[in-house]
Amino acid sequence: MKDGKIRSAHIGMKFGMAHVEGAMSYGADIAAICDCDPENLKFAGERYGIGEEKRIADYRDILKDDSIDIVTVAVPDQQHREISCELLKAGKNVLCEKPLALTREDCVQIVKAQRESSAKFMVGQICRFTPAFEKAKELIDSGAIGEIYFAESEYAHDYMTFLESWRADPLRHGVVGGGCHAVDLLRWLVGDPKEVFAYGMHKLLPMVDYDDATIAIMKFDRDVAGKIFVSTGCKRDYTMRTLVYGTKGTIICDNTSPTMTLFTVDENGVTREPETIEVELNNHNAAKEFAVFADAIINGRPVMTDAVEGAKTVEVCRKIVESAETGKILVPDYNF
Ligand SMILES: NC(=O)c1ccc[n+]([C@@H]2O[C@H](COP(=O)([O-])OP(=O)(O)OC[C@H]3O[C@@H](n4cnc5c(N)ncnc54)[C@H](O)[C@@H]3O)[C@@H](O)[C@H]2O)c1
Repeated sequence: MKDGKIRSAHIGMKFGMAHVEGAMSYGADIAAICDCDPENLKFAGERYGIGEEKRIADYRDILKDDSIDIVTVAVPDQQHREISCELLKAGKNVLCEKPLALTREDCVQIVKAQRESSAKFMVGQICRFTPAFEKAKELIDSGAIGEIYFAESEYAHDYMTFLESWRADPLRHGVVGGGCHAVDLLRWLVGDPKEVFAYGMHKLLPMVDYDDATIAIMKFDRDVAGKIFVSTGCKRDYTMRTLVYGTKGTIICDNTSPTMTLFTVDENGVTREPETIEVELNNHNAAKEFAVFADAIINGRPVMTDAVEGAKTVEVCRKIVESAETGKILVPDYNF
């Protein structure tokens, strides 16, 4: 850190611009932005007033700069492993976009690089910073809805207009690429599923070679069941509707509404009128994500979504895809 200020560099200037904004709102010194597409680099540079001397085309230039504390990575998922591993090897703290990677092998490599590095690693499971989901977590942990017996989350997002070649790659199945948000959310709110079973449908995106809708049911410890629904061709607006049912109440929330609903019971166990809770609308809370990572680095705290956590989420996603293909109940392997 120079003059007590975090210096950051940012790779990938499309969704990655959210990381630039997150770093700016934190007050970081932007050392570099990087994109191999000159148009995207120029656009981001002009948008954020970042001079040409800080605009770079090759991320390897960042490896040599010892003054950079945090590097954010927002490039196609297929490149997460290579870039994250190189950065960790060079001692850079890395905030890499979700999903951690597309295959178990790549996840294992990133976990290994994290273990061997002096630096910290965070995967951007941004739903853990969405105000409604943070509130749901707080309510669950406080016992407001009693013991959970069922939880479900969905990822409904129409990809029809942005199916770049890397998103059309069968390895980048919708359950892994976008559905990882819903899977990670359930893992955070409820725990690690012990078994998964899924069905896939393919009616909406004929241009891809993978199912565009998947429904998975899962079993957790303590007699808790869960459900994930992913649709990447849905004819509706984007949302992640999430319900958590407990023995003393129910939470209904999403990441696209300014309110969420809480049901609780009275002293006789009778359901009260629902409570409407106002929440800030912020489904890409990159500012908090960056601040939490910077805080972990400065204060030596553990990172909530480190590479192992990211790998476990990808593992559940891959087992869901495999179950839909084979018709088998599968057991995720969390040994990373
Ligand atoms: N957290 C979220 O909700 C969220 C939302 C969108 C995307 N993402 C993730 O962010 C990542 C990027 O997605 P996107 O929508 O911005 O993709 P995109 O294809 O729209 O943009 C990727 C950018 O990275 C650049 N790029 C590609 N390879 C590069 C390299 N080796 N070096 C430098 N620049 C490179 C491209 O030129 C492009 O500008 C993906 O991992 C995606 O899954 C996350």
